[in-house]
Amino acid sequence: MKIAVPKEIVGGETRVALVPACVSKLKKVGLDVVVEAGAGKAAGVSDDDYTAKGATIESDRAKLCASAEVVAKVNAPGALDGGGHEIDGFKEGAILFANLSALGGLADADLASRLNARKITAFSLDCVPRITRAQSMDILSSMSTISGYKAVLIAADTLPKMMPMMMTAAGTVAAAKVLVIGAGVAGLQAIATAKRLGAVVEAFDTRPVVKEQVQSLGAKFVEVDLGSRDAEDASGYAKALTEEQQEKQKQELGKHIMQSDVVITTALIPGRRAPILITEEMVKGMRPSSVIVDLAAEREGNCELTEPGQTVVKHGVTICGLLNLPGKVAVHASQMFSRNVSTLILDQWKETKFALDPKDEVVAGAMITRDGKVVHGPTKERLAKEGSS
Ligand code: NAI
Repeated sequence: MKIAVPKEIVGGETRVALVPACVSKLKKVGLDVVVEAGAGKAAGVSDDDYTAKGATIESDRAKLCASAEVVAKVNAPGALDGGGHEIDGFKEGAILFANLSALGGLADADLASRLNARKITAFSLDCVPRITRAQSMDILSSMSTISGYKAVLIAADTLPKMMPMMMTAAGTVAAAKVLVIGAGVAGLQAIATAKRLGAVVEAFDTRPVVKEQVQSLGAKFVEVDLGSRDAEDASGYAKALTEEQQEKQKQELGKHIMQSDVVITTALIPGRRAPILITEEMVKGMRPSSVIVDLAAEREGNCELTEPGQTVVKHGVTICGLLNLPGKVAVHASQMFSRNVSTLILDQWKETKFALDPKDEVVAGAMITRDGKVVHGPTKERLAKEGSS
């Protein structure tokens, strides 16, 4: 059985779905890996690195995809530059492993119907359930770790101040104040990175369970009384706040936002637009030259003034809404993504064929389409809702 690794087609993408170290693991169980020529270049991997680990290189993309039973990609398949769609070139009935952004349900009806038309069995890696067995398949955790780290470096580089407190002959320089909103995987990594740089760090999350984790990293947890409530769902994700709670949060957090040199926002609710936590008024109240790095920009942002994909200066404050921060750390991001995707492939490979048992928790959570049908519950619901609206 052949696994194809095509070059990513999304503009600016530097990651590759499989790195050579994982090729040898797949080869060992009898899976052949064929990589498009140059697919790993932006991630620091040459074609020779792949062949040294037993992969084959194919320069004809159409031939590569048409002959493979499995396709491993970072991003969802999309329209090709020269016309046509990536999926049209996949072998009928192939298995696709990629990030289709289907957490909370795939919203892209066109993608779903193209996958079904070619009877592609599609796995979306962002939907792998967060269970112990699947920890090493979890791209949300691995990519969020990188985003949280990189967000702090971008802020440190943009801020016209130093992060640590310094006592020098030229006077004492105060440490920068960093506020992290949303202390999930990305937020905790941002806290740890800002602490390493010497900043004074505060953090807030609507899930009170993270208070201890924040404190164990040496940051202060900002207390906002949102009343007694179920803060998270069964999977550990945050639930949306009521309007009243949102107002309370804005009032309380506003003071902290306005006193910070750097605010890193990471707050997300699966399947929804990111909640707005920083209003234009708050930005106006921040010190000029402060920095906001909005990691929720992929889902329209936690700051009202964020422009996804852009870095803008509003009321003297730099607001960074850059997308795909993991792509700025291409070597490690590819290494981690590759580990995630190859663990999933190996988990499902049973000696000579894929098991793909619908009762398996990983399959039930992450399989989106199979045999020409959408099989993923949240996607069925979302497409039905959006189709009828
Ligand atoms: P996420 O990326 O969906 O959200 C980021 C953070 O934003 C979360 O901590 C969330 O509580 C917070 N948030 C949402 N609305 C907010 C608001 N209005 N104000 C402030 N914060 C807000 O979450 P992520 O990082 O992907 O993980 C969420 C949780 O999932 C983890 O903390 C953990 O409990 C669980 N998890 C479990 C894993 C496992 O068991 N293998 C692996 C990774 C995460």
